[in-house]
Amino acid sequence: MNHTITVIRGDGIGPEIMAATLYVLDKMNLGLRYEEADAGLVALEKNGELLPQVTLDSIAKNKVALKSPLTTPVGEGFSSINVQLRRHFDLYANVRPAKSFPNTKSRFPSGVDLITVRENTEGAYSAEGQELSADGEVATSITKTTRKGSERIVRYAFELARKTGRKKVTVVHKANILKSTSGLFLKTAREVAMQYPDIECNEMIVDNTCMQLVMKPEQFDIIVTTNLFGDIISDLCAGLVGGLGLAPGANIGTDAAIFEAVHGSAPDIAGKGIANPCALLLGAGQMLDHLGMPHEALRLRNAIVATLEARDRLTPDLGGDGNTMSFAEAIASRL
Ligand code: NAI
Ligand code: MG
Repeated sequence: MNHTITVIRGDGIGPEIMAATLYVLDKMNLGLRYEEADAGLVALEKNGELLPQVTLDSIAKNKVALKSPLTTPVGEGFSSINVQLRRHFDLYANVRPAKSFPNTKSRFPSGVDLITVRENTEGAYSAEGQELSADGEVATSITKTTRKGSERIVRYAFELARKTGRKKVTVVHKANILKSTSGLFLKTAREVAMQYPDIECNEMIVDNTCMQLVMKPEQFDIIVTTNLFGDIISDLCAGLVGGLGLAPGANIGTDAAIFEAVHGSAPDIAGKGIANPCALLLGAGQMLDHLGMPHEALRLRNAIVATLEARDRLTPDLGGDGNTMSFAEAIASRL
């Protein structure tokens, strides 16, 4: 199959990890075609805008993008490009797997294999009603949860469980306190769960979930939750399995999907050639699953695991003395 994907090389370490990722993908001979598009600081310098229309058009046409981290300039008038992209394409599901890998500095070198499915468009991040009183003493904002938004994210989680052979979905909430918003999410989740009798479903309050994740992460399979809780829980899960260099994420909507690393543009190590390319490579693995190439996705993940097991040419964040490209070459040699 010949797929064309939009490739955004991004800022900071972005171009380095993208070069490494495309090197490995090319070695897999998947027949992928790349359409390059700019976003972030690079785009601002070239075209005077952070998110050019041609980039949006490219993603709309190809429906799939592989994206490196983007730097949002600090200051007035710039809203996060990542949030803009999620809104523009209504990428309502943020899917973040966390799996134990060998030879990382993780507290759980085995036993963690879970996916956080985070609602990506509403909740505390709906950006409505952000107000500060004239005297600067009182700040307010609106948290909005809809039945439609809750229904589609919970359904996504159950469908993902069926598709990937996972057995359990844990609905994470705070309905005991946030009675209207988290309450509507939980009520809707219960209704959706009834339609999936083949998948076990349990409910857990978010603070307890954090404790349980650190004590007994093996009890979780798929977690589905609202935007803010999902943001925090997925970083906690990335920490369980060895940190940002190994954490990928997919932003999925009905008409488009964007695959990325969870981490940012890492300005402290940009240009040094030592960034770990694994997070973006694992994001590319999610992309291959999405494109209907699960065997190729597994082939890629297996090569990454084998390289970690052999401690072959790893980057310094994993305790190795290799660099971004040597790590990619080591992975490519095990495909
Ligand atoms: P960051 O994730 O870029 O860096 C945090 C720490 O992790 C740094 O010490 C960095 O060196 C390290 N790190 C990150 N990725 C690494 C990798 N692949 N290999 C080795 N070490 C790695 O977070 P920070 O510094 O808060 O943000 C920097 C910029 O990135 C900001 O402008 C922010 O807006 C942007 N950002 C973009 C995201 C995206 O495009 N999806 C997500 C998060 C932040
Ligand atoms: Mg986050």
